[in-house]
Amino acid sequence: MLRIEQIGVAYGAIEALHGVSLEVAEGEVIALLGANGAGKTTLLRTISGLLRPKSGAIRFEGEALGNSSAEARVKRGIAHVPEGRRIFPGLTVRENLDVATTVWRRRGMSAAADLDNVFALFPRLEERSSQLGWSLSGGEQQMLAIGRALMARPKMLLLDEPSLGLAPRLSEEVYRRIADINAKGVTVLLVEQNTVLALEVAKRAYVIENGRIVLDGPARELANHPRVREAYLGA
Ligand SMILES: Nc1ncnc2c1ncn2[C@@H]1O[C@H](COP(=O)(O)OP(=O)(O)OP(=O)(O)O)[C@@H](O)[C@H]1O
Ligand SMILES: [Mg+2]
Repeated sequence: MLRIEQIGVAYGAIEALHGVSLEVAEGEVIALLGANGAGKTTLLRTISGLLRPKSGAIRFEGEALGNSSAEARVKRGIAHVPEGRRIFPGLTVRENLDVATTVWRRRGMSAAADLDNVFALFPRLEERSSQLGWSLSGGEQQMLAIGRALMARPKMLLLDEPSLGLAPRLSEEVYRRIADINAKGVTVLLVEQNTVLALEVAKRAYVIENGRIVLDGPARELANHPRVREAYLGA
């Protein structure tokens, strides 16, 4: 579904990604693991069209994404839940969700079923649908950010550290919902520092260090890999 071929990304003189290649098949959950500053967010932002690679190519469903805009990529089925959630603080929960439907609502389709779907997944959002974004707890904001991405009817969801700043019980809850979303047919590429949780949900994983992929393989194998255990599992 997604094929990243040897991409290089730089911020001015700072090279953040060096020849990164990665593949995601339809229906998979893939985890990208790495320390602070490794280049995880940079990779997701490049896939969603917020950053331009200076070399390499990205293909989605067999077609090169080229220089297409971030909006065009949302229309093609790629939805990005950014690091730190970035919901609209001055809009209500309901308004935050409605914003994401503009991509396809122009075609005259109703968002009612999408809203039902998000509320079924996150009942708390329905209870709080007229509450303002800023007043939600961290966990509720994460649920809203994921719900908003789902309103765009994505084929692939890019999640940047969905468990960041959440208590363990809430992180597990968010990860159960990610598994539910995947079970309904949405392919997932997630970035995570909580290696234990990520490797439980993912089928395969990649490890990125200093802008380079250094390991990849089935999640179960990586969970037992000495380098992963030492660097990311504190073993
Ligand atoms: N806007 C920017 N301008 C300059 N350098 C940047 C910018 N954003 C990121 N970088 C640099 O690119 C590298 C990769 O950053 P990135 O945000 O992709 O890391 P990350 O793996 O997501 O880290 P974290 O786990 O802390 O979120 C870092 O060295 C960072 O300092
Ligand atoms: Mg990051």
